[in-house]
Amino acid sequence: MISSLVKILFLLFIMPFNINGEYEVHILNNLPPNTPMLQLHCASADDDFGHQYPDLGKDYSWSFKDNFFGSTLYFCHFWWGFKQNVFDVFNDARYCIHGGDKFVPYDTTKCIYGVQEDGFYFGTENFMGKQNLTKYADWLSS
Ligand SMILES: *[C@@H]1O[C@H](CO)[C@@H](O)[C@H](O)[C@H]1NC(C)=O
Repeated sequence: MISSLVKILFLLFIMPFNINGEYEVHILNNLPPNTPMLQLHCASADDDFGHQYPDLGKDYSWSFKDNFFGSTLYFCHFWWGFKQNVFDVFNDARYCIHGGDKFVPYDTTKCIYGVQEDGFYFGTENFMGKQNLTKYADWLSS
């Protein structure tokens, strides 16, 4: 009894908080109507979602568990007409992405990207479901 309690305490001590927790990435297609379709290709070392064409206003999302080492990385390549960009949408267990501390609070598990005419917005939502996305990247010409 005592020894299993010691083991549990030991495991809690060595397990960094929220490693192996569940994460979500959301890509919101907030592009204007009557413009080229958004095309995206998101993948990790283990998952390849192929090329997707989410409708206007659609929330394209997936969830996953971070691996034990906290080294899970998902990137997305985006195309819109002659514009494109590619970046990691998840590579950090605490802030979604390295440097994400300027956009989301500590231990964020819902990583939200808004794709707009003027570029990419990144953030999360609070416990009330209210989103707070901040400009993160521009479209690049391809
Ligand atoms: C929205 O996020 C930005 C960046 O983290 C932060 O500076 C700002 O205070 C947030 N706004 C609200 C209303 O939470």
